[in-house]
Amino acid sequence: MTTHNHNMTDSEAKKRIETLTSELQQHNYNYYVLSNPTISDFEFDKLLKELERLEKEYPQFALPDSPTQRVGGEPTKEFKTVTHKYPFLSLANTYSESEIRDFDNRVRKAVGHDVEYVCELKYDGVAIGLTYVDGYLRQAVTRGDGTRGDEVTGNAKTIRSIPLKLRNSYPPELEIRGEIFFPAKAFEKLNAEREEIGEAPFANPRNSASGTLKMQDPAEVAKRPLDCFMYYIPGEQNLTKTHYESLKLAEKLGFKVSKNIAVCKTPDEIFEFINDWDKGRRHLEYDIDGIVIKVNSLAQQKVLGYTAKNPRWAIAYKFKAERAETILESISYQVGRTGAVTPVANLKPVHLAGTTVKRASLHNADIIATLDVREGDYVYVEKGGEIIPKIVGVNIEKRKPGVVPVHFIEYCPECGSRLVRKEGEAAFYCPNEDHCPPQIKGKLEHFISRKAMNIDSLGEGKIEMLYDNNLVTNPADLYDLKADDLLGLEKIIPAEEGKKEKKISFRKKTVENILKGIEQSKQVPFPRVLYAIGIRYVGETVAKKLALHYQTMDALMQADFEQLTGVEEIGEKIAESVINYFSKPEHIEMIRRLKEKGIQMALREKKSVVSPVLEGKSFVVSGVFENYSRDEIKQLIELYGGKNVASVSSKTDFVLAGHNMGPSKKEKAKTLGIPIISEKDFEEMIGK
Ligand code: IVH
Repeated sequence: MTTHNHNMTDSEAKKRIETLTSELQQHNYNYYVLSNPTISDFEFDKLLKELERLEKEYPQFALPDSPTQRVGGEPTKEFKTVTHKYPFLSLANTYSESEIRDFDNRVRKAVGHDVEYVCELKYDGVAIGLTYVDGYLRQAVTRGDGTRGDEVTGNAKTIRSIPLKLRNSYPPELEIRGEIFFPAKAFEKLNAEREEIGEAPFANPRNSASGTLKMQDPAEVAKRPLDCFMYYIPGEQNLTKTHYESLKLAEKLGFKVSKNIAVCKTPDEIFEFINDWDKGRRHLEYDIDGIVIKVNSLAQQKVLGYTAKNPRWAIAYKFKAERAETILESISYQVGRTGAVTPVANLKPVHLAGTTVKRASLHNADIIATLDVREGDYVYVEKGGEIIPKIVGVNIEKRKPGVVPVHFIEYCPECGSRLVRKEGEAAFYCPNEDHCPPQIKGKLEHFISRKAMNIDSLGEGKIEMLYDNNLVTNPADLYDLKADDLLGLEKIIPAEEGKKEKKISFRKKTVENILKGIEQSKQVPFPRVLYAIGIRYVGETVAKKLALHYQTMDALMQADFEQLTGVEEIGEKIAESVINYFSKPEHIEMIRRLKEKGIQMALREKKSVVSPVLEGKSFVVSGVFENYSRDEIKQLIELYGGKNVASVSSKTDFVLAGHNMGPSKKEKAKTLGIPIISEKDFEEMIGK
């Protein structure tokens, strides 16, 4: 079927919307639940775009389970508190085989010897309860305090493996629970991106799952690849006789349920499952922190009942992290590229999980205080899910007299500036972003990086040399470099654990390459230049948005707070950071120099306002046009100084209507008395 809908009748549109919705639904399911896609991402996007377009045109036919909702609805100011129909109990934790034998004995005593257990993985994420009414996802609520939680339905809808509508035959009402998690690979990527724009990285995937789920803008949530396993149908819903069957039912209804389940009859079988997964968890794409063991028969579960906090029919076995004891010899402080100061523990080398550990992260001042860890203490080091080992406690009994509490440094160890702590943040920062050596080097490294100016003939080591030799202290200096400055420079990087000694020397060929790379970077388009200069919170996407909106660096530099926050997706934090950046004369000077050297400071095809005939006028564009695509028409509006808005309100000046304009928009424009103009009228307005 073609994507043209010029002459579609209402009933054709309705039918096409229905077909697309169910097809896309199926593709979503194939991809995210079955991990077995049958079409390409490209084809999927094409169908989704077609559906989006049709739904805009014919909003009356959009279905409640439309996959277009996955991109995120309206932002919420505050999450509504909801009382759980069935309390959200947690599981009692155990750490040893003997505790599991005790559990098994308690169970047998209560229900006799004919017992079966279901063993499952214990996903390390955020618990969620989903309610479906007449098959449609009605509500998603977090655990909260167990009695009441936050309603995060808008955010949950963006999670592709959570069905918006149940499959096959479903009960009129269903409540089901599961765990939302952040896949490991995506977590690493997210953290790398956060560090790049100067935001504190998340400590682990669980924190990023819970942080993401609590974001106020579902459109932002939609960009992060949250996923969700379902593991429990609570209460007296009487849908099955066993827990195992309820998981199979969940699967049939379209939920993602883990295949890593075993039905066990004896503690020994349970231990086998535990041991397999204690080893096997390294290969999973998500974090687990243990195993959950549940009595299979729901009748037996009922007999066993609950304590005040936990079911008596289930228990969690938590994996032990590998742990070692050693001496904390000293604490040093590292200043990162963004100025964040991280305390690092220097340890007496100790063997842990296959490697020798000499250093551990202490994260921040709060953690040092909470642990009350002191230089000279015997400390416990653990290697958990994170790569860098961490200190988890102190052996107080071995503390020598005279060791004193840690006094967190007040001045930057690199540049001597007084450290600052931002409200609500755990980290201390060095505020001297333009003159503190690691921050300068960090900015230079960022400037040359692949997604920025892409000067791949330079790298971390070479940047360091240029800086240490006083040749480059800010990005503009790169463009002043001459071959003579570089020829003959040399640096020896001493051998380190597992790595050989390395020598960097600038010979003719190297120097030629460097200069060529620098020269080529003058072709890098403006959005990437804007990203490269390293304004805090201006990552790749934001840089693109700003560049597209302002077209030139000069225009962006003139923008005030009000105008900046008026740009789509630019919030107060970013606006403030942009204003602050351009308020510094040395930044202005650097940009002046970059411009002088021929770096792109404007979008190539100049789309700045041609003539401001539409200045101050806002337009709602609807329908299909003869001579332009809808995007082209919108661009024209902006080109002539006008503004595009999405929906008709009393503030709208014109509704620009093509063929097949949405009837609800037409109705609204009429009621509000807003002029509806045609493509021809519009062309006249702009003098075409
Ligand atoms: S069953 C009443 N199964 O662990 C029993 N929980 O303290 C409800 N969890 O809050 C929980 N994986 O967030 C269950 N396979 C699994 C689980 C699991 C992770 C979490 C869940 C719960 C906590 C238990």
